[in-house]
Amino acid sequence: MNIFVKKGVLADTESQAIILTLFEDGKKLTENALEIDKKTGGLISELIKSRDFEAKPSQISVIYTGGKIRAKRLALVGLGKQKEFNLEKLRAAFAAVLRHLRDMNIKEAATSININLVPDKKDRVVQAAVEGSLLGLYQYTPYKTVCREDIKEMEELNIIAGKNDFTVIESAVKKAKIITDAVCFARDLIWAPGNEMTPSIMALKAREIAGRKNLSCKILDKNKMKEMGMNALLGVASGSNEEPKFIILEYTGGKKNEAPVVLVGKGLTFDSGGISIKPADKMDEMKTDMSGGAAVMGAVMAIADLQLGLNVTGLIPATENMPGGSALKPGDILKSYSGKTIEILNTDAEGRLILADALAYASELKPEAVIDVATLTGACVVALGDDVTGMLGTDEKLKKEIEKAAADTGELVWELPLWESYHELIKSDIADYKNSGGRVAGTITAAAFLSKFNGDYPWVHLDIAGPAWAGKDKAYIPKGASGVAVRLFVEFLRNRAKK
Ligand code: BES
Ligand code: MN
Ligand code: ZN
Repeated sequence: MNIFVKKGVLADTESQAIILTLFEDGKKLTENALEIDKKTGGLISELIKSRDFEAKPSQISVIYTGGKIRAKRLALVGLGKQKEFNLEKLRAAFAAVLRHLRDMNIKEAATSININLVPDKKDRVVQAAVEGSLLGLYQYTPYKTVCREDIKEMEELNIIAGKNDFTVIESAVKKAKIITDAVCFARDLIWAPGNEMTPSIMALKAREIAGRKNLSCKILDKNKMKEMGMNALLGVASGSNEEPKFIILEYTGGKKNEAPVVLVGKGLTFDSGGISIKPADKMDEMKTDMSGGAAVMGAVMAIADLQLGLNVTGLIPATENMPGGSALKPGDILKSYSGKTIEILNTDAEGRLILADALAYASELKPEAVIDVATLTGACVVALGDDVTGMLGTDEKLKKEIEKAAADTGELVWELPLWESYHELIKSDIADYKNSGGRVAGTITAAAFLSKFNGDYPWVHLDIAGPAWAGKDKAYIPKGASGVAVRLFVEFLRNRAKK
């Protein structure tokens, strides 16, 4: 859908549907709604009086204007109680109303945005409305060939702005579109089937986005990794016929010698479990085991489009985990890139192996901070549920920054502890560490394992096994790939770039 910002008066705008947001307890209508109410002979106040529409969160009512104004319909959407308002409600409302109009096969709508809803964050109000709209309308359809004409699509949203708000709104929409494009880019990669999103294809996608100013891409191939000794990553790849790739995206928007923030994303393009093979049920969902890598690619793409003033390096170790003839076996021992040895107890605990080499590589970049993101453990879903990202790390300040970005984007992040006692659980009898800590505290022992491959820099690990894939439609995340962590990273980096 295209979004245009136009100068004008909403009440006088020609449109298939004018979208109006309303508060539940708001006796008085906004200026725009008042004007439209007046010009339509009280259509809105009548509807509210009848209690057919109470403006509950994301409640929708579509009414016809009967030619009293130039717009054909009014689409009212509730924001709930004014004192309970937050940007999540606005995202949800725009997603709900636009999907409703799309289902009615309407192609175009007009609206206005009350930027004073959050007076000190006017641009974020606009951003939330755009995010709700574009993320909520997302559909993944490239493999549908039959009856393509039945796929409904919203084509155009016109945001009508007054003279005073126009500049703020126009610039905020531009930035918001960069961010939603990046989320949708990540969603596309994640949705793509494993046979068409191999490590090599991920590497190609990385090269494509690296056409941007200040953004370059380097791919380490299998031979290079052998030479370097990335044996943990190579071990995981050994059961597959697909070549592994180590993707490096380098963004240099900051000063030349400024230390980079390094983002590391798990790029498992298909996780069968390997020799410790997974059950057949839902194994197909393991094509999404590169969601962390996709999030890093999306985030780097967005910060390059925003031209943020800082240096960021994205690292994506990409491979399949398959049970081939030369696959890793339980009991095998690998010497990782860091030099530390790992005993393999379970070949399905492969994410931490490829991340171990990537984190050791990250520490060579003398980073200001390292954040890794991965669909790492089923245990995280058991502990925190489907919607929540688990956070563990070594740096209080960095964790606080992530928590702030999470609160502002509406992504849910919750910290789990990384106390010393957990580290006992991953000590191996024969090697330095073992890749599985057993049944208890699975998310924490995975993070404890990762921590062994970090240098001394601030580090945070994000486990997105739950929120990466939505099992059902959510407010502005249609069922499927969520693109979680893209907005989180962009928000976090925008805050850092400001300083
Ligand atoms: N990719 C999976 C984790 C996962 C599970 C992500 C479900 C999304 C949904 C990971 O590689 C894995 O298999 N982890 C194991 C670790 C165990 C063998 C120590 C797990 O969680 O069972
Ligand atoms: Mn696995
Ligand atoms: Zn995995």
